[in-house]
Amino acid sequence: MTLKTIYPISAFGGELRVPGDKSVSQRIAMLAALAKGTSEILGFLTGEDALSTLHAVCALGASARFDGDVLLISGTGGGFKEPASPLDMGNSGTGTRLLAGLLAGQNMTVTMTGDDSLSRRPMGRIKDPLEEMGAQIELTGEKGTLPMRISGTPLQGIRYELPMASAQVKSCVLLAGLFAEGKTTVVEPRPTRDHTEKLFQTLEIPIVVNGLEISLQGLGPTGPEINGCKITVPGDFSSAAFWIAAVAARPGAELVIRNVGLNPRRTALLDVLRRMGALIETELDVVNGDPIGSVFVHGTSLSGTEICGDEIPNLIDEIPMIAAIGALAEGETIIRDAAELRVKESDRIAVTTAHLRAFGVEVDERSDGMTVRGPVQLSTPKEPLASHGDHRIAMAMAILATFADAPAQINDVDCVATSYPDFWKHLEQLGGRVV
Ligand code: S3P
Repeated sequence: MTLKTIYPISAFGGELRVPGDKSVSQRIAMLAALAKGTSEILGFLTGEDALSTLHAVCALGASARFDGDVLLISGTGGGFKEPASPLDMGNSGTGTRLLAGLLAGQNMTVTMTGDDSLSRRPMGRIKDPLEEMGAQIELTGEKGTLPMRISGTPLQGIRYELPMASAQVKSCVLLAGLFAEGKTTVVEPRPTRDHTEKLFQTLEIPIVVNGLEISLQGLGPTGPEINGCKITVPGDFSSAAFWIAAVAARPGAELVIRNVGLNPRRTALLDVLRRMGALIETELDVVNGDPIGSVFVHGTSLSGTEICGDEIPNLIDEIPMIAAIGALAEGETIIRDAAELRVKESDRIAVTTAHLRAFGVEVDERSDGMTVRGPVQLSTPKEPLASHGDHRIAMAMAILATFADAPAQINDVDCVATSYPDFWKHLEQLGGRVV
């Protein structure tokens, strides 16, 4: 278990490129593995989650190699082969839930396992719609959790109203729908990230998006014909978010992030920070598919805001970081409608609340969010803070520690490598000190 000590800093900022988007990398790995021919992928995330998904699709018959910065994936042309052993999905909820959708209609039996954190996460949310389509899914963990055994069967398209706003569940059903007979429609309660839909469009897989309803025509067990492609993965906005928030809350600091994904379903953090008073501009370089561009941040004093409703899914992974800078903002930062945070890599409401209190922050915890009262001169936690195996908790608390009055420690930080292996290096590059 690696322990890091993070020192308070006075000056912070600079220019940076963040690693490839985790959601996009994993979706591309799966679709390229289904395609005919070789796909060339620039900017694929080499974090553990994306690599777990890549290993899984290779165990299913695709092959992959890096040629410098380019990942080459030779696809199976549609015919996955039964893997020799269970697929170890590591920490990746996206890999597990989306791949389950793709495998549900394949004529083979596959078992998926994961690490401790992934093995606690709910999988009933994908089992229910997949079984409605005719799939056979067994969750052999104690509480509707991994290990999951999928015995592929012929599927029927369904109309599915998602009980929660989840891009993973939406994408799982759409991917299963590709191999089903007839039409599959998914109805979202709120708009969630639409990388799957965007990639389908890029790969010319027909899909109809009508507000919150997304439909496609299934092609039965043979599935769609996809051709290998050339594609660039944008920098991960959720990784950039740590630096954007760190600089936005530090008067006088300046930051430029280049080459980052600016899909509006991912960037609600920018709206929130602007409401809090931050000075942020964006510049678009690529507008096709997922928009890619630069973010310019000028730090200033912030004030609290309220975050709820449709905004939540579009900043869901940024909430621990938003709550943390809420401690530095004047007044209350109120987060509602975010109960989904309780079933992420950790219970992010409970863990964020506990850690902010350890920094001396006044926080009210609610079932669906929290209220953080600022501004506070942060004290230093007496004990090392536990990451609970959750990369975003470790990174959000590391950023907050740079604002404390003495060095703070975070324990079990290896999980950061799931999404951002260079996080500590980049923290130092921008002026941080970490031991
Ligand atoms: C993701 C969707 C979100 C997000 C996760 C990645 C995706 O999860 O929190 O980090 O790639 O589709 P949910 O679908 O559970 O909301």
